[in-house]
Amino acid sequence: MIILGIESSCDETGMALYKTGEGLLANVLSSQTKIHNKYGGVVPELASRDHVKKLVPLLDSLLNKQKLSLDKIGLIAFTNGPGLLGPLLTGAAFAKTLAWVNNIRSVEIDHLEAHIFSAMISEKTLEPPFISLLVSGGHTLISKIDKHNSYEIIGKSLDDSAGEVFDKVARKMGLKYPGGPEISIAAKRTINSKYKFPRPMINSNDLNFSFSGLKTHVIREIERTRLNDQIISEISFDFQESIIDVLIHKSISAAKIFDIPRIAVSGGVSANMRLRERFEKESQNIDVFFPNLEFSTDNGAMIAYLGYLKSNETKMNSLKIQPIPTSSVF
Ligand code: KG4
Ligand code: ZN
Repeated sequence: MIILGIESSCDETGMALYKTGEGLLANVLSSQTKIHNKYGGVVPELASRDHVKKLVPLLDSLLNKQKLSLDKIGLIAFTNGPGLLGPLLTGAAFAKTLAWVNNIRSVEIDHLEAHIFSAMISEKTLEPPFISLLVSGGHTLISKIDKHNSYEIIGKSLDDSAGEVFDKVARKMGLKYPGGPEISIAAKRTINSKYKFPRPMINSNDLNFSFSGLKTHVIREIERTRLNDQIISEISFDFQESIIDVLIHKSISAAKIFDIPRIAVSGGVSANMRLRERFEKESQNIDVFFPNLEFSTDNGAMIAYLGYLKSNETKMNSLKIQPIPTSSVF
C-alpha cells in the first residue's frame, strides 16, 4: 500500500509517499522561512495563506515525480495537531476532501508522535522500547516508548521549549528566524567563551526542563553588552552548550532509570550538529539515534511513516474537521 503524508502544522508544507515493504518513495517540502523571516517569527495568517497556495502544486509534483495517480494511494495521513489552528485547518480540509472525493481512507496524525518515530524512517535498527527526546520549536519532551501507540511522557519543559529559546535569543542578537541554525553557525566560529550561563534544572532530580530563566539571563546579558561578531559567537557558544548539557544529562538519566539503552532524538533542534556530536561522544554504552537531517525539522515523510505504522487501525474518516491547536495540548 502507498501512504500519502501531509504536514501543515506551522510554516512548512510537507508531503511524502511511503510504500509498505519498500519504504520512503518521495518527500517534498515548501518552506516559508523567507516569508516569516522579516517578522522574526511565524505569522499564522501568512502561514495559512501559503499552505493554501502550496498544497495542490506539491501534490502534483509528488505524484508526477513518481509517475503515480491518486488511485494508487491507499491511505492519506495528515497532521491534525498540535500546531497553529489556521495552518492545521488548511491541511486537514485538503486531506479530508482529497480522501473523501477519491474514496481513500484517511488517518489523523499527532505531529509530536510523528516526530518521535521519525528516526525509524532511516535507522532500520531502531525499535521500541526506546527513550525519546523530542526537542522542537513547540515542545521539549522525554518519553518512554514501548510501542508506536503506547508511550508515557516522563519529562517535559515547565515553560519555554528549547527551540523557542534558541529563536528568542537569536532574535535579540539580530540573527535571522529560525534562530537555532543561526546560533549554531555563530557558535561554530569560536572554540570557547568567556560566558558561563546557568544549566537550568540539571540537578533537579527529575526529568523536567525549564529554559525560560536561561533565556532571560542571556537576554539581560545581551542588553548590557555592546554586540560584535566575536561577542555574538561567544554568547551563542555557551548558550548552546548550556541547552545541550541539560538535554544530554536528562536523556541519559532517563535511559539509566528505565534501563533502556536506546535514545532517539527528534524535532527541529535535533538538526543541531553540536548536539549530535556531543550525544555520540557522551552516550557511553547507550545507542543514540537521530533522524536524517531532512526529517528533523517539520516534514511530510514522518507523517506518511506514522500513517504506515497506524495503517491497520484506520477506517474511512468522516468529513468532520477537528484540528487540535497547540494551546489545547500541554
Ligand atoms: O520541529 P520543528 O521544525 O517545528 C516544530 O514542531 O516546532 O522545530 C523548529 C525549531 C525552531 O525553534 C528552530 O530554531 C529549531 O527547531 N532548529 C534548530 C536547528 N534547526 C532548527 N535548533 C538548533 N539547532 C539547529 N540546527
Ligand atoms: Zn515539528
